[in-house]
Amino acid sequence: MKRRRIKKEVYIFGIILILVIVFAVFGIRYLIYRGTDEYKLKKIGYQKDEIAIIEKLEKEEVSKVLQMEYNISIPKLLKEKYFIFANLDDYLDYAKQNQDENLSHAVSMVNVGANHEYYDQNFVIPTKTDLKNEYLILVNKFHYLGKDFVPDDLVSVKNWYAYGENEIREEVYRQFIAMFNDAQKEDLKLIINSSYRTYERQESLWNGYKRSQGQEWADSVAARAGYSEHQTGLTLDITTDGEYTTMDKFDQSDEFKWLSKNAHKYGFILRYPKGKEDITGYDYESWHYRYVGVETATKIYNMGITFDEYYAYYKDEIEG
Ligand code: DAL
Ligand code: ZN
Repeated sequence: MKRRRIKKEVYIFGIILILVIVFAVFGIRYLIYRGTDEYKLKKIGYQKDEIAIIEKLEKEEVSKVLQMEYNISIPKLLKEKYFIFANLDDYLDYAKQNQDENLSHAVSMVNVGANHEYYDQNFVIPTKTDLKNEYLILVNKFHYLGKDFVPDDLVSVKNWYAYGENEIREEVYRQFIAMFNDAQKEDLKLIINSSYRTYERQESLWNGYKRSQGQEWADSVAARAGYSEHQTGLTLDITTDGEYTTMDKFDQSDEFKWLSKNAHKYGFILRYPKGKEDITGYDYESWHYRYVGVETATKIYNMGITFDEYYAYYKDEIEG
């Protein structure tokens, strides 16, 4: 009788011990889980699929998201191809103020700085000219080249290739001639209209536009002095002869169609494409080609983005 009772007590003790162990294990696991990013993100309100996206971020980046309120746009932004984490707050601000636009557009606008006023002197920075690849100089309404910049390897363009007197950087000239010759094999004629422009020349051009049709229009078609990539010696305005000589008609020409498919093979990109006016800050210019080198031009062509967006995304790599 006594032995049976002891047996029963051992049995009960065993069960209690097992229960304690089970609870302890679950308790500890729960405590550990409460410390995880997954738990904290869930508490803020993120769903499983959103958490999976956020958890792909770097540790400090996740910490920043954890300090913010739930925002449905955050995981969506993270899926954007050209998302840059440092711009997160600006993307969210921009998206809030421009709810009719999609997030890809918000990312592009913020990346290039176009969430600021053009020429905002609190935001404009000097253009970097000491790059590993000197052909990747970025000049736009937020990157100021300055008054004194003059390329040191300008060469004169033969009249055969251009209307009027022109100068461009040596490599650009070489690549233009290669492009000209290949276009010519298809009975197409590429003619340079404008190329390197001094600060003073750009100033008088812009002032002329302003005088004729006002500042807003001048800003949409021309850069202010010191902000033009024509001053880098890396840019060519190209049209042709005959019916499509003038710039406004050039995009109807076979030469334009050929350039659209081939310019990148020689290192040139169409710098101000149609539909990207708010990103580049300029009206569509079918004639304005910027030399960036074959490798980069091909990448930009395949990515289908502007040079401003490309530069923003690869800034660290480009600036070294
Ligand atoms: N037309 C271009 C934007 C320039 O003036 O540089
Ligand atoms: Zn131009």
